[in-house]
Amino acid sequence: TRHHTMKIAILGSGYVGIVTGIGFAELGHEIVFIDVDERKVEMLNSSKPPIYERGLEELMKKNRGKYRATTDYREALESSELTFICVGTPSKGDGSIDLKYAESASKEIGKALKNNDNFHVVVVKSTVVPGTTEDKIKPIIEKESGKKAFEDFGLAMNPEFLREGNAVYDFFNPDRIVIGVKDERTKSVLEELYKPFDCPKLITEIKTAEMIKYASNAFLATKISFANEIGNICKKLRIDVYKVFEGVGLDHRINPSFFRAGIGFGGSCFPKDVRALIRKSEELGENPKILKAVMEVNERQPLKMIELLKKHIPNLRGKKIGVLGLAFKPDTDDVRESRAIPIVKALLEEGAEIIAYDPKAIENFRKFFPQVEYANSAEDVITKSDAVLIVTEWKEFEELDYSGKIVIDGRRVEKAMKEAKIYKGVCW
Ligand code: UGA
Repeated sequence: TRHHTMKIAILGSGYVGIVTGIGFAELGHEIVFIDVDERKVEMLNSSKPPIYERGLEELMKKNRGKYRATTDYREALESSELTFICVGTPSKGDGSIDLKYAESASKEIGKALKNNDNFHVVVVKSTVVPGTTEDKIKPIIEKESGKKAFEDFGLAMNPEFLREGNAVYDFFNPDRIVIGVKDERTKSVLEELYKPFDCPKLITEIKTAEMIKYASNAFLATKISFANEIGNICKKLRIDVYKVFEGVGLDHRINPSFFRAGIGFGGSCFPKDVRALIRKSEELGENPKILKAVMEVNERQPLKMIELLKKHIPNLRGKKIGVLGLAFKPDTDDVRESRAIPIVKALLEEGAEIIAYDPKAIENFRKFFPQVEYANSAEDVITKSDAVLIVTEWKEFEELDYSGKIVIDGRRVEKAMKEAKIYKGVCW
């Protein structure tokens, strides 16, 4: 049986917004993307993905005609039944969450709802600290529209758990769907929308849904910092930390994922979300010691790579250091909070010359470090450098010939190298 086609507006065309919108288009819904960035709007309208994400371009081409994009909030919102707020929630200088985009989105939604007599459902998908939807977003929409939440319009919080690089796959294969709602009408709209997904669906209070997102990301970040701490001890004892966590992860209460030790976590989510949760909890008079330690370990970890390099080359001044991988993880062009940033910074401070390569992220990285030399290939980096640092575990880095080089491997791609006995130093 065919489900009811919904008219869905996506406010904010970043990773989450685009993947969510195109995913729902594939499921048969009619999508309108709203963004202030004209370049993104134009790209979406010509079926070109404004971001690199595996499988996205094909899905956009396939569903051409089921979505459009515009900068006109009013028209787009008035012609839809449901709006997903997918705007960014960056960090402020002190680590707390910056809600300026969420607030201006709420204002626009409120204005558009003013003369709209249909029951419009507003769904917050952006990661927002617990309490935000009801204490910040709701009053803005109510004030601008003159309407009452949960009666005249629906309001819900539905966190997103997709991983960059696997976002399209994750959209169609979620582990769970969390829906924070209050009113029955909104609940049934969202249950209907998510009917095609075969996974546990958890209906919660709105602020609980907000917290589930933070607790999930904070726990995954904790697993990584924990693995790094154990890894640092293992290194001193000459124990293979990867074997250790293979053993640990076999306990079904623990699970093997997110125990890869190395130079730590980056990306647009973990560092920002852990910081925001720390700030929120301090605001409430708490002292979140575990969360603070998770960030401390993560900040120290990339510098360990430089320490190890200096064991081989004590004075880096004038030395040419190759950096392989600039993206915060493989299969993305995203460099936000990439561990390559503190590493390149530290190398520059030591007076090293840098030659860097990444299959997708050079253009994004260049904006932060125009002074760095960028190579056309990984091979080029290896040939031209005195030592190579592997910062992101792109698959192609596993198959290179590193013979005779000093290689510091921050991400355990060294399997091939180990077999060929061609690496000199390995980090983790
Ligand atoms: C993360 C979560 O995994 C998603 O579930 C969540 O939806 C998303 O944040 C978000 O909040 O939007 P993402 O940032 O795309 O997804 O990337 P991850 O695959 O989680 O990796 C994050 C960082 O941790 C990367 O820098 C990666 O290299 C590092 N990492 C990951 C490790 O150092 N070790 C591991 O074992 C796993």
